[in-house]
Amino acid sequence: MRIICVDNYDQMSKKAANIVASQLILKPDSVLGLATGATPLGMYKQLIKTYEEGHIDFEEVTTFNLDEYCDLNKEDEQSYYYYMYENFFKHININIKNLNIPNGRAMDIHKESLEYERKIRKSGGIDLQVLGIGRNGHIGFNEPDIKFEALTHMVKLDEQTIEDNSRFFDSIKDVPTKAISMGIKTIMHAKKIILLASGKEKAEVIYGAIYGKITPELPASVLQLHPDVVFVMDKEAASKLDLEKLKEEYL
Ligand code: PGA
Repeated sequence: MRIICVDNYDQMSKKAANIVASQLILKPDSVLGLATGATPLGMYKQLIKTYEEGHIDFEEVTTFNLDEYCDLNKEDEQSYYYYMYENFFKHININIKNLNIPNGRAMDIHKESLEYERKIRKSGGIDLQVLGIGRNGHIGFNEPDIKFEALTHMVKLDEQTIEDNSRFFDSIKDVPTKAISMGIKTIMHAKKIILLASGKEKAEVIYGAIYGKITPELPASVLQLHPDVVFVMDKEAASKLDLEKLKEEYL
């Protein structure tokens, strides 16, 4: 595990974008695992800028998103498809046939999940997975549970997640209660992982993910077992960590 701690959200976004850009420079046909939520928005903006400046190219890139709400149409402004299109895909030269987002409106979510796993395998596997982290420790929509769910699956969203995500909806009643998400094994199979965190409301869970015991009750804690994971955080998200001690261990 490596920890990168910077001053603020802007620097976190630039650092994360630089990591993704290096990946694409080294391997132009990379398979990227992508995340939604408020945290990676700055990273996407920065990647668009890097692309516009001609430093990176997406023509050969394949992407797999972590998750999608059930029961929202692609066109719905709250769907993750819409988010990805508006905030990233429409600004870059990615080939539409290389974009993958689980279909939360599939008639048979189990079949959709198996198909998603098959597509990831067929692509050669995810080279670099970008993650955010929920205040409850979720990664993707893998909510705290008594066991780790391995593969892509349907999830019943946690009350805390529904409450947290209600900020994007008109009312909490509009937040979908179910989603489809990559599983923990799917995420852990990525060759490299970067987790982004910003703000003091993530400090507690970041501490738990890095120092706590590995438990499905804090899903991000499993990342302690990944051979190549980088936490990219701002000072506030890292405020409960002892950075001097971490310097010896991880920096
Ligand atoms: P956020 O969500 O970036 O909107 O805080 C993170 C997550 O739920 O993974």
